[in-house]
Amino acid sequence: MKLNIPACLLLFATLALLSACGGPKDVQIQSPDEKLILHFHLTEQGEPTYKLTFGKQPLILPSPLGFEFKDAPALKDNLEIVLIRESRMDEPWQPRWGENLIVENKCNRLELILHEKDSPERILKMEFRLYNDGLGFRYTLEKNENWTSVQISNELTGFHFAEDPTAWWIPADYDSYEHLYTQSPLSQAEAVNTPLTCKNADGTHFSLHEAALLNYAGMTLKKSPEKPNFWTADLVPWPDGVKVRAELPLTTPWRTIQVSHDAAGLLKSNLIANLNEPCKIDSTQWIKPIKYVGIWWGLHIGTQTWVPGPRHGASTQNIKSLIDFAAENQINGVLAEGWNTGWESWGQDSAFDFTTPTADLNLPEVADYAREKGISYILHHETGGDAPWYEARLDSAFGLAQSLGVHYIKTGYAGAIRPVGQHHHGQWMVNHYQKVVETAARYQICLDVHEPIKPTGLHRTWPNLMTGEGVRGMEWNAWSKGNPPGHTCIIPFTRGLAGPIDYTPGIFDLLLEKSPGRIPPWEIRDGATPRVHTTLAKQLALLLINYSPMQMAADLPENYRGQPAFKFISDLPPRYTETRILQAEIGDYLTLARRHDQEWFLAAITDEVKRSQEFKLDFLEPNQVYLAEIYRDAENSDWQHQPTQIVIEKAEVRNTDYLRLFLGAGGGAAVRFVPKK
Ligand code: NOJ
Ligand code: CA
Repeated sequence: MKLNIPACLLLFATLALLSACGGPKDVQIQSPDEKLILHFHLTEQGEPTYKLTFGKQPLILPSPLGFEFKDAPALKDNLEIVLIRESRMDEPWQPRWGENLIVENKCNRLELILHEKDSPERILKMEFRLYNDGLGFRYTLEKNENWTSVQISNELTGFHFAEDPTAWWIPADYDSYEHLYTQSPLSQAEAVNTPLTCKNADGTHFSLHEAALLNYAGMTLKKSPEKPNFWTADLVPWPDGVKVRAELPLTTPWRTIQVSHDAAGLLKSNLIANLNEPCKIDSTQWIKPIKYVGIWWGLHIGTQTWVPGPRHGASTQNIKSLIDFAAENQINGVLAEGWNTGWESWGQDSAFDFTTPTADLNLPEVADYAREKGISYILHHETGGDAPWYEARLDSAFGLAQSLGVHYIKTGYAGAIRPVGQHHHGQWMVNHYQKVVETAARYQICLDVHEPIKPTGLHRTWPNLMTGEGVRGMEWNAWSKGNPPGHTCIIPFTRGLAGPIDYTPGIFDLLLEKSPGRIPPWEIRDGATPRVHTTLAKQLALLLINYSPMQMAADLPENYRGQPAFKFISDLPPRYTETRILQAEIGDYLTLARRHDQEWFLAAITDEVKRSQEFKLDFLEPNQVYLAEIYRDAENSDWQHQPTQIVIEKAEVRNTDYLRLFLGAGGGAAVRFVPKK
């Protein structure tokens, strides 16, 4: 048996090097607060398994680990433990942008080296990290003389749930996360995308996802047809059915289970980002969170077009007027899609040109104008799914941005992926998305990725990967039956656990009444009458609920001008130094407060049920009087009949006070607290 153990490993006091036979078969570690216990067990047949308990209750029953390969025997049994190492980690870090100034990062680690007893004697390393907020584990497939590359046909990681939990899930679509969530017993689903969020009968909440998804296929989960409550990883395939092709050694993404005794605890979890490597960008001064406006909503409701013509949105004149509006209203950036040629051919191969502006746009003039006014001009690269075409043009596309002084780009993959047969969430595209992030970093470009691979915390390593879609966002309200009021009360606890969301909130013209004569960009789905399914106060709240370091106030300037409620958006900062979750129930309601310098901002949202929410303002500084600027639903506001009714009022408050807020059906509230001098 030849073991390739790095020398530094031998220095650890807690390391145990075991004899090839008769070594231990069980290893257990606890989270720092001792509430979570991870138990690794090797069965009589040498099969690796793990189980997870939370506060003495089983959460994951013994579940398998391992792989099947296209061109090699499976690696799932006949293993022995040859090395165990336990260690602690406590490495808080400071994100460049985010919801808190410092991120706690404390866990207990277990590393194992497993050796296949007979030929081909492969080595499988396992690493488990147990935090107070959950478990992460990953595999490393080691290289040996006879084994230098792999074609994984199946990852065998299993999740044997202790019961059939209530779940909030979207189907396992290989190309899109833009679905409405179903709330049901998990057993009613067949195959799901992650994050998959669940609640046990005792109130334990947990969410399955992955972290640091690099050079690997995205993971979906599928139900076992035979064994109740047993689910396995199901990786998104290449066109020939192989899931992952790689040179060895190969380290997989982390499989993650965030755990909390309540819904609020899930929102406080930093597990996904913590399991990623520290920042790899030397100087990050150019990476600045922003809020922005644009023509995006006009494109989707049909008052403007991507293609040149009488309603073209990205003309010199129109972009300059957006820049003026931004500069006058404390907005940091302007985005205008349709600035480049190629939109007439959207859907075809090689459609888009990433360096040629349309005839009615003087790009340098607009970029200069934005710079003079202190506004970040945001470019857009729609690929239509033709990723190889875009990849070959990254340097010229980002080079143009850099020469214009542009630091922000929205990308998009709206269309079937080329090479034909590849999927948005497969390994080929995972590598493409990552290549774009790393190339963008070299050109000092921050990204907002639409039709992305789901976030897996890579923004810790590459903070220029700022935000993304990967959710059924606001646009669906423009051309389909839309997103029901409960949708926005689910996504913070599901997709939101993965990373920032570009949901594009802030619509004021909720019934689309102020855009007569608009021509929708494509056929309205399901014969619906498009509209937004919230009240106006809830639109304000959503800007705070879904944190995004590139946050769009998505309505058009003409719908914001003269609206007193727009002041809340002007006053919002683009980052926060502290976040508190005040009230949370998945699918029902969420109230949170975020601090920026001395000011606090509070948002509350509800689903289709009207509620009265009362909470103590104990997050405010003691002995300080604050002026609360309150934007709330009126007593008769509700999303269906009175969506735009809003009450804007002021009150003096202290941290010993209670605030009661009425939220209409589909409603919300937003409050700014300013310390009084
Ligand atoms: C879909 C994106 O979600 C949307 O934001 C964009 O406007 C269109 N694709 C066109 O790129
Ligand atoms: Ca989309």
